[in-house]
Amino acid sequence: MDASLFQSRHEALIQQAESALRRLTPSAETRPARLHAAMRYSLEAGGKRLRPVLCLAAAVAFNPEANAEHAATALECIHTYSLIHDDLPCMDNSDLRRGRPSCHKAFDEATALLAGDALQPLAFELLAYGYAAQPALATALIAELAQTAGSTLLVGGQTEDMGGLAAGADAERLEFILLGKTAAMLSAPFAMGAMIGGASPVDVEHFRQAGRAAGIAFQLVDDLLDLTADAAQLGKPVGADAQNGKFTYARFHGVEAARQRIQALTEEASGHLQASNADSTFICELVRRMAARKH
Ligand code: IPE
Ligand code: IPE
Ligand code: MG
Ligand code: MG
Ligand code: MG
Repeated sequence: MDASLFQSRHEALIQQAESALRRLTPSAETRPARLHAAMRYSLEAGGKRLRPVLCLAAAVAFNPEANAEHAATALECIHTYSLIHDDLPCMDNSDLRRGRPSCHKAFDEATALLAGDALQPLAFELLAYGYAAQPALATALIAELAQTAGSTLLVGGQTEDMGGLAAGADAERLEFILLGKTAAMLSAPFAMGAMIGGASPVDVEHFRQAGRAAGIAFQLVDDLLDLTADAAQLGKPVGADAQNGKFTYARFHGVEAARQRIQALTEEASGHLQASNADSTFICELVRRMAARKH
């Protein structure tokens, strides 16, 4: 895909995701103002907006008229909550996020905890009301996101991640962590966007599997960047994984093996996207760029 065409479509989707986020979430002045200010502080801190962009792009890949803004916002709410909690002193104890002080540093720990708490039901409220006119779709979206954010995937992955290398370095445990803490939340936007676009069950599954592969690759890149990038470029601390004794693919299998797996997973994702009936040119290019990202 032509680079400038990709760029302009990508920027338009980021804008759409950010304007939906501002429109569909409570203002910072809503009572209690400190809670809502903390939620907006973390939501508006920037970030790549990858999950909402993937969701919006997946929907229009099946139906150019599809509007996935509520689902895109719901995904960013869950993702942002997971970052707020991930940075807390009891978890990764990280003071910098998206180039700014982490939520618990800008506010306080209790407010950060509560802001994360509040972002979770907000996501499901957005899905319930946003797709109320299509009850079967609303139910499917709520089920998809609930499962993704729940105890066997996002929270489960975060739980096993906390044990670090000390809890046992076996390949199967590493896959559980990668799928749970990261890949599930990248697979959901593909699947939810496809559902909103009216994809067949087979195509939803192609998209879910594409997101799963791209999502595992995404965490492998995140782990490599923790080893090789600098904090200003990344907007979050570097070297934190070694410091926290984390069990990462690069630390277990080596940097070269991680690079090869990123390549293989990216090809796997493209294969699933191309096997679907969607117009997947833009998403294929986005997946390719996710693997090559520098922040
Ligand atoms: C960070 O996700 C957490 C991981 C799953 C590695 P992103 O790298 O997508 O963070 P933002 O949204 O751009 O800040
Ligand atoms: C990200 O893992 C997982 C979630 C936030 C759910 P990391 O702990 O590696 O993410 P960063 O590096 O802090 O963004
Ligand atoms: Mg973490
Ligand atoms: Mg972390
Ligand atoms: Mg990391």
